[in-house]
Amino acid sequence: MIRILFVCLGNICRSPTAEGIVRARLQAAGLADVVALDSCGTGRWHVDESPDPRAQAEARARGIDIASLRARQLCVDDFQAFDYVLAMDADNLAHMRRMAPADCQAHLGLLLDFAGTPGRSVPDPYYGAGDGFANVFALIEEAADGLIESCRQRLETQPEPGDGAR
Ligand code: 4NP
Repeated sequence: MIRILFVCLGNICRSPTAEGIVRARLQAAGLADVVALDSCGTGRWHVDESPDPRAQAEARARGIDIASLRARQLCVDDFQAFDYVLAMDADNLAHMRRMAPADCQAHLGLLLDFAGTPGRSVPDPYYGAGDGFANVFALIEEAADGLIESCRQRLETQPEPGDGAR
């Protein structure tokens, strides 16, 4: 099993969109049972809220339902509970690095590093014009297949449960 956590600021726009897109791709790839997903925010203003209606509409227009997701805040235990902790932008990545325990084994990085050109951020759409949400969706789609390929490679090298447990 591989566990992936998507992290943005509020957990109502970018990271729930990433969770929805990657979940749909995993289902299509037959990997939904072996890769678990979650999302959260570094901020706590929107805890327990549904995704922003603009993010829900953007996803729904593409056949992805994120309405049941609820916002939560990143916590220290997440760095142990997940294999990948992926930030939407450089500020959130910096926040994660400050918060992570020194012995953290998880991969900490930017989601868009899986899109081929490292270092890019998914811009915060919250205060911007409506097309910011379409941009968020398109950028996350660019990274989704690369992330799933990384999971496939990790699954191939992961020991089967029980291996070495004699
Ligand atoms: P997100 O967008 O980080 O993609 O969920 C934001 C949502 C809310 C706020 C900022 C960004 N806010 O300042 O409340």
